[in-house]
Amino acid sequence: MSRDGFGSKLGIIAAAAGSAVGLGNIYRFPCELGNNGGGAFLLVYLLIVLCLGVPVMLSEFIIGRRAQKNPIGAFKMLRPRSGWPVIGYMGVLCAFIIMAFYSTVAGWTLEYIVKAIGNQFHGKELSVIEQEFADFHDMGWKNVLWQAVFIFLTGFVVFKGVADGIEKYAKILMPVLVAILVVLGLRAVTLPGAKEGLTFLFKPDFSKITGSVLISALGQAFFSLSMGMGVLITYGSYIQKDDNLTTTALSVTLSDTLIAVLAGVVIFPAAFSFGVQPTAGMGLVFNTLPMIFNQMAGGYFFCIIFFVLLAVAALTSTISLLEVIVAYFVEELRMSRRWATVIASLGCMAIGVFASLSLKSDTGFTIAGLSFFDSLDFISAKVLLPIGALFIVIFVGWVMGKKTFNEEITNGGKLKLSIKSVIFFIIRYLAPLAIAVIFITGFV
Ligand code: TRP
Repeated sequence: MSRDGFGSKLGIIAAAAGSAVGLGNIYRFPCELGNNGGGAFLLVYLLIVLCLGVPVMLSEFIIGRRAQKNPIGAFKMLRPRSGWPVIGYMGVLCAFIIMAFYSTVAGWTLEYIVKAIGNQFHGKELSVIEQEFADFHDMGWKNVLWQAVFIFLTGFVVFKGVADGIEKYAKILMPVLVAILVVLGLRAVTLPGAKEGLTFLFKPDFSKITGSVLISALGQAFFSLSMGMGVLITYGSYIQKDDNLTTTALSVTLSDTLIAVLAGVVIFPAAFSFGVQPTAGMGLVFNTLPMIFNQMAGGYFFCIIFFVLLAVAALTSTISLLEVIVAYFVEELRMSRRWATVIASLGCMAIGVFASLSLKSDTGFTIAGLSFFDSLDFISAKVLLPIGALFIVIFVGWVMGKKTFNEEITNGGKLKLSIKSVIFFIIRYLAPLAIAVIFITGFV
């Protein structure tokens, strides 16, 4: 069977960046930062992205492009009759888990588009906007409905195939999202009292760095860069043999991180100005943003455009998640692409319903004190992704080895790359050690 490929170099960067940039940057990053001590979290996060982002991403690309297969098939092919495919199965499981709660939040973006068009935030006090957000959760069925719509949209794009599906959507809209974040940031930092928010975001209080801050930052870094579960192995398998893996990984990492920091510059000054607590979690984003739009010339239009772009950013991420499951079903279980997409989508929906409904205030649907929604988030970002990433770097550093690494990273000697030994050293020694240490300190 011939495999779909990305049409151009920009195509793969756009698609990988499309996967990386999403609710993780604009919704999850501020949540985690707000709950983990502000500037201290940002500092740890940036260090982790800087040291581990590119090496781990490269490792996934290398495995994928070498094997030309989905994550499970890739490990099977590169190390037949070994335990390594377990990492691939874990990735597929993780894709279901992330899809289940991610699609809940993605569904909200659709609700907020409708609200924005109906001008329903106009002139409202913060307390009213907060109450309406809580009421929306309590409706339950409406969340589930939007979630279903979102999963259906994802399935639709995935069904149409890689090259004309993912690539086309990602390329145009991401730069527009950046532009609108810059505009919002300018408004946010000029609000009264915004300075406190900037201090919270950028001034690290070193005494706040604890094991749980470290593991949260590690989890957020992997989550935001879509690493540790095979999305980038799958995308790597679509990268052409003459593409430069290193510059691709670098561009994706930089743009993703820039957008997360930009989101912080929008959210925190505004939250402090309006009196939203930095620990408000999802409310931090969904209540603060409408308040900013209320304070802006042309806020009505900006609000609509923003939530549309957020939905699109979420869509390019859910596409990448569903693609991992579908590629596995098609290539390993020999399903048709149509059935693979239908079954994968229904599976995500089946778990996702519980994630959405667990946020109603009266369900009591909790695991170890966390809502089902938060449990899924916790298990994926703080457990499965770090474990997946750990084994991925060990696989490239120790099992594939330096010769294969050099071949892939230089495209068989065609590219010069003076820092390739440094990157290999990080992949072989530093990354596994750092991930293991953070993981252990996070849970002890
Ligand atoms: N990175 C995406 C975001 O920030 C979410 C995502 C897509 C993801 N694919 C993933 C997270 C794979 C972890 C693993 O919104």
